[in-house]
Amino acid sequence: MYVLGNWKMNGSIELLQSFLQPMRDLQSSLGQSVQIGLAPPAPLLGVLVHEKGFLFGSQDVSEQDEGAFTGETSSALLASLGCDFSLVGHSERRQMFGDTEQRAANKAEKALEAGLKPVFCIGETWQQREARQTWQCLEGQLAPLQAALGDSVADCVIAYEPVWAIGTGKTASPEQAQEVHAWIRQKLGSNNDLPILYGGSVKPDNADELFAQPDIDGGLIGGASLQWESFEAICQAAGRQQQ
Ligand code: PGA
Repeated sequence: MYVLGNWKMNGSIELLQSFLQPMRDLQSSLGQSVQIGLAPPAPLLGVLVHEKGFLFGSQDVSEQDEGAFTGETSSALLASLGCDFSLVGHSERRQMFGDTEQRAANKAEKALEAGLKPVFCIGETWQQREARQTWQCLEGQLAPLQAALGDSVADCVIAYEPVWAIGTGKTASPEQAQEVHAWIRQKLGSNNDLPILYGGSVKPDNADELFAQPDIDGGLIGGASLQWESFEAICQAAGRQQQ
């Protein structure tokens, strides 16, 4: 299981510093069956350089290697800081910053080449769900990833994040999420070891029932990862599934 916090464009150096020791202590008490991690805003990755007590990663990665790409960060640079993972294709990047399906797949490829685990985010909008286009949408997001990575898709983490559940307080029901997770697993070759995380308004009071689903292998947590108490409670919920 993984529980990863996505701070988005929130937080501060002080907040991150206040998380460090509690994160290390929690990871060591949970053991290796639950891996916890954080993706703070990029400048704060400097605080985490070579942190070994828990996972850390970036919220995005460039599809380019290096060069005149102002504002971009290469996978090689992130790997040299000791990052473990990179979020790729988050819906906010897809919707607001021009990450096309192909670009997201390219980014995942770059991350893997550098030894970073891509946490590849997919999800449908409410309109698509209402129009019964969920599978078509997810298929469109996964096909370029499969084409780019082939069997190495098995080295990714997939995060199913229905766009309508992100930051809205509306969570997919455990049954809705399980249905999609099972479909994703089957689509990507029925690999039981492929971690498929759920994201979208995960909170301490819904984490247990989500994580109890057979094909939900943890969560990608936005808003609730900005307060230690709620993030810890969600990590503990993952821990209870391993007992
Ligand atoms: P949320 O965000 O938990 O605030 O809904 C999840 C995400 O965007 O990764």
